[in-house]
Amino acid sequence: TAPQFIRNFSIVAHIDHGKSTLADRLMEITGAVSKREAKEQMLDDMAIERQRGITIKARAVTMHYTYKGQKYELNLIDTPGHVDFHYEVSRSLACCEGAVLLVDAFQGVEAQTVANAFAAMEHDLVIVPAMNKIDLNHARPDQVREEMVQTLGLDPDEVLGCSGKTGLGCEGILQAVIERIPAPSGDPKATLQAMVFDAHYDEFRGAITYVRIMNGTVKKGQKIKFIQQGTTHEVVELGHFAPQRKAANQLSAGQVGYLVCNIKSLGNIQIGDTVTVPGDHPAEALPGYEEPKRMVFCGLYPSDGQDFKQLREALDKLQINDPSFDFEPETSDALGFGFRCGFLGLLHMEIVQQRLEEEADIDLVQTAPNVTYEILTKSGETLEVHTPQRVPDHGEIEEFRQPIVRVNFILPTDYIGGIMKICADRRGTYVRTEYLSPTRAMLVYDLALADVIYDMHDRLKSTTRGYGTMDYEILGYRADDLVRMDILVKGERIDALSIVCNRGDADVRGRAIIKKLKEEIPRHMFEVSLQAAIGTRIVARENISAMRKNVTAKCYGGDISRKRKLWEKQKEGKKRMKSIGMVDIPQKAFLAVLETG
Ligand code: GTP
Repeated sequence: TAPQFIRNFSIVAHIDHGKSTLADRLMEITGAVSKREAKEQMLDDMAIERQRGITIKARAVTMHYTYKGQKYELNLIDTPGHVDFHYEVSRSLACCEGAVLLVDAFQGVEAQTVANAFAAMEHDLVIVPAMNKIDLNHARPDQVREEMVQTLGLDPDEVLGCSGKTGLGCEGILQAVIERIPAPSGDPKATLQAMVFDAHYDEFRGAITYVRIMNGTVKKGQKIKFIQQGTTHEVVELGHFAPQRKAANQLSAGQVGYLVCNIKSLGNIQIGDTVTVPGDHPAEALPGYEEPKRMVFCGLYPSDGQDFKQLREALDKLQINDPSFDFEPETSDALGFGFRCGFLGLLHMEIVQQRLEEEADIDLVQTAPNVTYEILTKSGETLEVHTPQRVPDHGEIEEFRQPIVRVNFILPTDYIGGIMKICADRRGTYVRTEYLSPTRAMLVYDLALADVIYDMHDRLKSTTRGYGTMDYEILGYRADDLVRMDILVKGERIDALSIVCNRGDADVRGRAIIKKLKEEIPRHMFEVSLQAAIGTRIVARENISAMRKNVTAKCYGGDISRKRKLWEKQKEGKKRMKSIGMVDIPQKAFLAVLETG
C-alpha cells in the first residue's frame, strides 16, 4: 500500500472506558474478525489481562476499510492503559500519526485520560477525541465534552460520540481517522529504518518482533541489524497482524507488521530499538530508546527450600516473555535462598506474582515491596540499593535519597480536602488544583514513591468512595531524613523484615508492625519477644506469651489415626511458614509492614 493510503493510530483511554470493546468493533466492521470472534476480545489475549480487565502489552492489528471509493490500510496499535507501562505506551505512540482519545460518556475525564492525552500530544499526534458508551441511559455527554475541552484544550466540535457496544458512531471513528490523521511520511526507497515497539514470545517461532517501518523496505530473507542490541539476523518471515499473523513478502515505509528472525528469547529484543541494514551505511538510530526502569522491588522466596531450582526456572520462563521484569539471587538469614525481583511498578509486580503462582504452582513467601534508594556514603561512594537489608548502618550514610513522583489525582471536588490531608500527612508538596467542571478537579502533588506504593491507591479509593483516580510520573531522587528500621524476633534480627521509613514515622510504623506481627505469629511453647529497632534504639516491643498446652496432648489415649490427621492438619497450616531460629513465622507476617497504614 502506498503511504498516502495508510493510517497508523492507537486508541488511548482510562482503564475500563471501553478501548478493547471499541477495538473489537472496529475489527468487526472492517471484516478483520467475524462477529463471533469479536466476542472473544481479540486484542488483549492474555488470561490475566482479561481477569483484571487491563490491557498490559501493546498489540497491533491491520484493518482494511474503503472510504469514498478508496481502500485504506488502517493499523491500530494497542497501548497499555496503566502508568507502570509508560515506556511501552510511549514506544507505541511513536509509531502512530494519531490517536483516538476515548472517554467514557458517564465517567468523564480520569487520571489516565489526561496522562495518555499528554503523552499523545508530546509525540505530536493528531487527537481524535471521542466519547464512548453514549448508549448508556445515564451518559452525560454535554458535561463530559466540557471536561475534555477544559482539561485538554480540545475543540468541542471535534468530539465524536460512539458506542463500542452497539456499534453506534463507530464508522464515524474510522472515517475521522482517515480524514483527520495524516498519512505516514517516509520513503520506501530509502535505507531501512524501523522502530521495534513490542515483541511477544511464540512457542514455535521464538520471538516475534513488532515493527513500524519509518523508511525503506524490508523483504523476506533479507539480513537486518538491531542497532541497540548490536545483533544481525535473517528475516525468516514477515507480515501483518490480521489480527493473527499473516505472512507477506515485504513491509515498506509507513507500514506496521512483524518480523520473525529465529531469536530464542525476548531478552534479546529491546523495545525502542531500531532495525536497519547491516554493513557500512546503516540508517540512524531512532530517538527515544530507554532501558526499562525498575522502580519497585521485592524478595521472592520458595516457602519450601527445595523449590529454589523450580522457582528459578519459573522466573527464567517469565522473563522470556517479559524482559522488563528482572531478578537476581539473594540470600536472607531468615528466608534462605531466594530472589530479589525488580518491577516497573506495583501493578507489574502483582501481575508477575500471579503468573508465578498460577503457572508454576510454587508456594511463595514474598517480602514487602520497596523502592530503589540512592545512598551517598561517608566515604563518597554512591550506592543504588534495592533492598532495605542492604542499607548501610546509619553512621556510614552521608545522604539518603528516595524517588519522588508527581501524582495527578482526578476526583469529585467534595473529596479534595480529604486527599489533601492524606498527602500532607505523607509530607507531600502541593503543586496545583485545576477544575475540570464545577464538580470535578485535578489535584497535583509531589510525593515520595515509597509512600505512593505503600497505600495511596487504597486510601484514594476509600476516601473518594471509588470515584478518584490517580497517575504518577517519576521526577527524580531527593535527599530525605530516612532510616532503616530492623525487626527482631526473639532477639534475632529478621533481615527480610527491615524497612526504610522517614525518621518522623519510625515510632508509629514500628509499633504498628510489632502489633501486626503479634497477631500473625502463632504461640509457641516458649515466650517470643518482638522488637523494632533503629540501630541500637528500640522503638517498639511486644511479647507473645507461651502456649500452655501441647495440642497433641488432647489426643493421648485416642487412636493413632486421629492423631495423624491432626499432624497432617498442622503440616498444612505450616506450609506457608518459615522457621527462623525456633520460631515459625507465617508468610502473612512478612507483609505485616504493608498493612499498617
Ligand atoms: P482495559 O483493557 O482495562 O483498559 O479496559 P478497556 O478500556 O479496554 O475496557 P473494555 O473494552 O474492557 O470495557 C470495559 C467495560 O465497559 C466492559 O464491561 C464493557 O462491556 C463496557 N463497555 C465498553 N464499551 C461500551 C459501550 O459502548 N457501552 C456500554 N454500555 N458499555 C460498554
